Amino acid sequence: MISLLPTALLLASGVQLAFSQFVAPPKNLTSKTGYAGVTVRYKSVPAGICEQDPDVKSYAGYADVSPGQHIFWWFFEARNMDPTTAPLTIWINGGPGSSSMIGLFQELGPCRINLDGDAVNNPYSWSNVSNMIFIDQPTQVGLSYSSPVPGYEDPNSGYLVELPGNTCPEYASDWSCGTYSYWNESLTANNTPSTAPNMWKTLQGFMGAFPQYAREGINFATESYGGHYAPLMSEYFEEQNAKNITGAHNIRLEHVLIGNGWYDPLIQYQAYYNFTVFPGNTYNYDPYNQTIKNQIYNSLYGHGNCYDQTVDCNTRKIDEICTAADNFCYQQVENMYDIYLNRDEYDVRYLMPDPFPPTTYIDYLNTARVQAAIGAYVNYTESNAAVGNAFGATGDDDREIGTVAALQTLLAQNVSVTMYFGDADYNCNWLGGQVVAEHVASTAASGYSSAGFINISTSDGIVHGQVRQAGQFAFVRIFQSGHEVPFYQPLVSLEMLDRVLADRDIATGKAPLTPAYKTKGPLVSAYREGNATIQFDLTPADAIYNVTTAMPQNGTSSSGGGGGGGGDKKLAKRAKYSLRRARKIKRDKLGGWAK
Ligand SMILES: *[C@@H]1O[C@H](CO)[C@@H](O)[C@H](O)[C@H]1NC(C)=O
Ligand SMILES: *[C@@H]1O[C@H](CO)[C@@H](O)[C@H](O)[C@H]1NC(C)=O
Ligand SMILES: *[C@@H]1O[C@H](CO)[C@@H](O)[C@H](O)[C@H]1NC(C)=O
Ligand SMILES: *[C@@H]1O[C@H](CO)[C@@H](O)[C@H](O)[C@H]1NC(C)=O
Ligand SMILES: *[C@@H]1O[C@H](CO)[C@@H](O)[C@H](O)[C@H]1NC(C)=O
Ligand SMILES: *[C@@H]1O[C@H](CO)[C@@H](O)[C@H](O)[C@H]1NC(C)=O
Ligand SMILES: *[C@@H]1O[C@H](CO)[C@@H](O)[C@H](O)[C@H]1NC(C)=O
Ligand SMILES: *[C@@H]1O[C@H](CO)[C@@H](O)[C@H](O)[C@H]1NC(C)=O
Ligand SMILES: *[C@@H]1O[C@H](CO)[C@@H](O)[C@H](O)[C@H]1NC(C)=O
Ligand SMILES: *[C@@H]1O[C@H](CO)[C@@H](O)[C@H](O)[C@H]1NC(C)=O
Ligand SMILES: *[C@@H]1O[C@H](CO)[C@@H](O)[C@H](O)[C@H]1NC(C)=O
Ligand SMILES: *[C@@H]1O[C@H](CO)[C@@H](O)[C@H](O)[C@H]1NC(C)=O
Repeated sequence: MISLLPTALLLASGVQLAFSQFVAPPKNLTSKTGYAGVTVRYKSVPAGICEQDPDVKSYAGYADVSPGQHIFWWFFEARNMDPTTAPLTIWINGGPGSSSMIGLFQELGPCRINLDGDAVNNPYSWSNVSNMIFIDQPTQVGLSYSSPVPGYEDPNSGYLVELPGNTCPEYASDWSCGTYSYWNESLTANNTPSTAPNMWKTLQGFMGAFPQYAREGINFATESYGGHYAPLMSEYFEEQNAKNITGAHNIRLEHVLIGNGWYDPLIQYQAYYNFTVFPGNTYNYDPYNQTIKNQIYNSLYGHGNCYDQTVDCNTRKIDEICTAADNFCYQQVENMYDIYLNRDEYDVRYLMPDPFPPTTYIDYLNTARVQAAIGAYVNYTESNAAVGNAFGATGDDDREIGTVAALQTLLAQNVSVTMYFGDADYNCNWLGGQVVAEHVASTAASGYSSAGFINISTSDGIVHGQVRQAGQFAFVRIFQSGHEVPFYQPLVSLEMLDRVLADRDIATGKAPLTPAYKTKGPLVSAYREGNATIQFDLTPADAIYNVTTAMPQNGTSSSGGGGGGGGDKKLAKRAKYSLRRARKIKRDKLGGWAK
């Protein structure tokens, strides 16, 4: 290209262009010391950045939980109610390594991002019934950071490559230059138990800085790897309470809700066979021939294979054994689906690339305007491969790690526990979830074994799912829903939350929950969707998911329910690896990872 511009001007504009790819440190953060001596730095987020209503306040920033560890949080006041008396609900996503902005923007926050990149109101926001705080953890995930450094993401490994300064070299310009958290494994967590202290500190900092939103009894909602996180973090909160730490606030849980959780690998690895082979899923999707079916069965139950190795891991609890077991189960059992079917692991109805839920929010969080408004120090990444791999090296994914016992303890402490599952998800599927629920109930919810499934009634008069509930313990199956339930079934998700927080039955919301409450119905949830919503052609990238028909609606976005990820190279490139296991990036791209 021939340019007629003077060299000096060219250089100047070149420098400026390069510089604008990096995040300018946020200005004018308010700093306060919260409970337990934890400092938070935050901004009051203007209306229009996610929440559209100027009367509903929102704050975002960091809790400085330890030297070199800054945890990002984003708080939204409840709508339609007095936020100084509304309940407080925490939301975190899983991974390990996944950002909680996934939940905020794709699932249950006050806004969705449409195809034009604009924030539009989500009428089904969980903030309709509760104050909400979304937390990116552990350090390095999402907008959390240790120290901000210039760099780009290696397209093969997903790892950060640091740059010497704020200039994006030409060879990297397509590789996502920006400001990222410096990667240091000792400044984050590598297993579930070690995530708990910084979650506790983040809540201490936030509640101390905002006493009007602080509560003794709080609610914890999470998803996917949250089946590991929530039970163990809850246990830690109770341990902290028992210590009577001076200057600390008691954090007692009242309600725990877990969507498509990963609890017990021994049960849930077997459930991959159950969901795709026997007894199969309710979409009549029976994809494998007998050879592959036999192969998966043998990979599970053959001598020394996935089942045996997982038992060994959970008996001896040695990192190397658990890592090897998890790799084996992943490669030989779980991953058969990806190898043979090219379908979305998180929603059996769609081929890859699946446009649902749309990923438009990633670019939104990577604009200077939004970064400045929420006080972000780093560019946004949906999933952190390094954190995922750190967990991989301890085999945390293959460890049951006390999740079932911790849920039993919560129930014994009068905390309500709701395990809900979208029934089109393969990754953390509901068939495995049901077996986990029976284990939890065996000692902690005696009425559950004789409780049965009944339809959930909602204000739209449509049956979106069924519940089996005994006292404070509930198992919920949501129809026509992938892994991220509040995206696919927003109305029943919101009404479920509302009923749980109000201590009412999930089925109708009309009966007060007593220890003797029990649903009466069949022990098996027999409803079958059939194959009408299974897609055999690629769904267009700009399709909209219609929650009434549970089908893609063709055409481009108007305002309202979000938009597609069409046309954006960066988004199209992204695989959907991020919800339970971020480290799949490395495995998929490099074909296995170092032990
Ligand atoms: C800084 O924050 C204070 C208090 O929140 C506000 O009054 C002031 O206008 C802000 N200044 C800038 C430059 O944003
Ligand atoms: C949630 O609250 C908003 C704002 O008050 C309201 O417009 C909307 O209808 C509510 N959503 C539901 C499902 O009730
Ligand atoms: C990082 O944020 C800046 C805005 O501050 C943006 O221009 C740049 O594109 C972002 N980088 C990535 C990889 O998204
Ligand atoms: C990582 O962080 C720890 C703890 O702050 C520090 O001691 C160590 O020097 C850091 N390592 C590197 C390579 O920066
Ligand atoms: C904490 O306080 C409670 C109630 O005041 C008391 O029963 C308990 O012994 C205290 N625990 C410790 C570790 O001091
Ligand atoms: C899963 O499949 C195995 C092997 O066929 C079977 O023994 C087990 O009962 C099934 N579990 C469920 C929950 O269907
Ligand atoms: C079974 O399916 C696999 C994968 O599609 C294929 O490679 C194999 O040839 C099939 N085997 C039989 C016996 O049809
Ligand atoms: C258990 O929790 C319910 C609902 O929060 C409450 O009404 C009840 O009093 C609690 N029972 C005990 C023994 O704490
Ligand atoms: C439950 O809902 C399903 C699906 O709408 C319906 O077919 C069935 O009749 C309902 N069962 C009862 C007992 O209402
Ligand atoms: C869907 O199911 C119907 C029977 O319910 C069957 O006739 C049809 O072949 C199935 N379609 C596909 C694509 O499997
Ligand atoms: C979804 O489909 C229903 C039924 O066909 C239709 O009435 C509704 O308008 C569609 N939703 C949107 C947002 O277009
Ligand atoms: C929507 O798109 C699908 C897949 O591209 C196509 O098969 C179907 O005919 C379209 N439906 C409408 C109503 O345009």
